[in-house]
Order: sequence, then structure tokens, then C-alpha cells
Amino acid sequence: MGKIGAIIPAAGKGLRMNNYFPKQFLPLKGHPVLYYALKVFEEEQMIDEIILVIEEEFQEYVEEDIIRESEFTKIRKIVKGGKTRQESVYNGLKEAEGWEWVIIHDGARPFLSESLLRKIIHEMFEKKAVVVGIPLHDTLKKVNKEIILKTLSRENLWAIQTPQAFSYPLILEAYKKANEENFHGTDDASLLEKIGKKVHILRGNPLNIKITTPLDLILAQAIIEIGKW
Ligand code: CTP
Ligand code: MG
Repeated sequence: MGKIGAIIPAAGKGLRMNNYFPKQFLPLKGHPVLYYALKVFEEEQMIDEIILVIEEEFQEYVEEDIIRESEFTKIRKIVKGGKTRQESVYNGLKEAEGWEWVIIHDGARPFLSESLLRKIIHEMFEKKAVVVGIPLHDTLKKVNKEIILKTLSRENLWAIQTPQAFSYPLILEAYKKANEENFHGTDDASLLEKIGKKVHILRGNPLNIKITTPLDLILAQAIIEIGKW
């Protein structure tokens, strides 16, 4: 079986968090958010190597205080981030060598469970492109200038998270085409959808939050106190 790699984009500035220090480095019970995102990949035996995408000014801090401190051994390369998440992931994808499969997971999502990671890997082998998501609970309405245009049917609407797992050549092709055509998506799967490829969905875990706002940090502290996710 070919190599399974992980790309962890962690080169964002965290503007919605309103904090000088990017959110992926904020501490949760003594470890930075990014430590938790990496640890699950480090410990999953099916993952062969990791490419981490970081802004240059944080590279030394990450190498010393996260990778060396935690004795992570699977991080093959640290790659420079781009202006958008899409550019950052593409930078990482281009550096992969000999990968057959790739799992892409936000460095700002500390609560990916081992069991969900394993599940998406198995689904990926069969389906080639799989993302995790959760069905929405709230009613959704399409709005224009504070006036409701219509109510969307909730049954068909899911909130999408990472990990997103793919055949490596398939997602690389999608990224190349998006780059050529100047197409910007908000997640990895949207680039495959754009070129007409089928993407499957796997029911995720509501605790697998992306740390985005100060409220998410409070939630994250509560989850870490409970100690399981
Ligand atoms: N990311 C990245 N490179 C970028 C932008 C984002 O690697 N240029 C990463 C973030 O570090 C994060 C993940 O992509 O792990 C999801 O992005 P998001 O939650 O939007 O993070 P930020 O862009 O940092 O936050 P914001 O949008 O609030 O500025
Ligand atoms: Mg962003």
C-alpha cells in the first residue's frame, strides 16, 4: 500500500480571534492548540508522514516548542504558508513525495478523535474523496439586506469540517486546475466539486470544532477539562 500523508495548514493569522498571537498557538492545558491537531496524526499508525504549513516567523518556535518538545517524529517538512488557506494547502501538497493518499486537517482543530481519523481513512480507501461534516440543527434562511428571501431545506444541509481525505493524485489535479483558473474555494472538497468529481460525506463529531472566535476558546477549555472528545 502506498504512503498516507497528512497536510496540516497552520499558517493563518486568526483575524476573527482578535489576538496578536495566532490561535493555533494558544495554550490549552499547557499545550498549544496545534499540538493536539498534530498528536492524533503522530499516534495513528496508518499515517506515514506529515507536512506542516507555518508562517516563516513562527517556524523556529514550532520546531523547538512543539515538535522537539513533544518528540513528534512524523513531520517530514515544514512549508511556508500562502495568503489564503487554499494557497497554504497547495504549498504543502506540492512538497509531498510518493504519497498515494492525503488527509488534510486544520491546525486550528484540536479535537479530532482517533476513531474518526481511522474511520475517514478507511472510507477514503473505498471512496477516494471523503469529508467529515455534521447535519445542521438550526433553520437556515437565505437573506438579502436583512430581508428573508427563503427558507432552505435543512435536511440537505451539512456543516463541513476537516479532516478531508483524498486520493493524492485526484486532489493535486483539483488544486492545479483551481490555481490555473483562479478559482477560490473555502475547503478542499470544493475544488474537486468544481471539476465534477464526486465527494462523499462522513458524519463527524460536534466536538471537532475549529477554534475561530474567543467563544470557541472557552468551549475548547471546557472540552479539554472534560478530557475526552
Ligand atoms: N490557514 C493557513 N494559511 C492561511 C489561512 C489559514 O494555513 N493563509 C489555516 C489556519 O491556520 C487554520 C486553517 O487554515 O488552521 C483554517 O483557517 P481559519 O480558521 O480561517 O484560520 P485563519 O485564517 O487563521 O483565521 P481568520 O480567518 O479568522 O483570520
Ligand atoms: Mg481564514
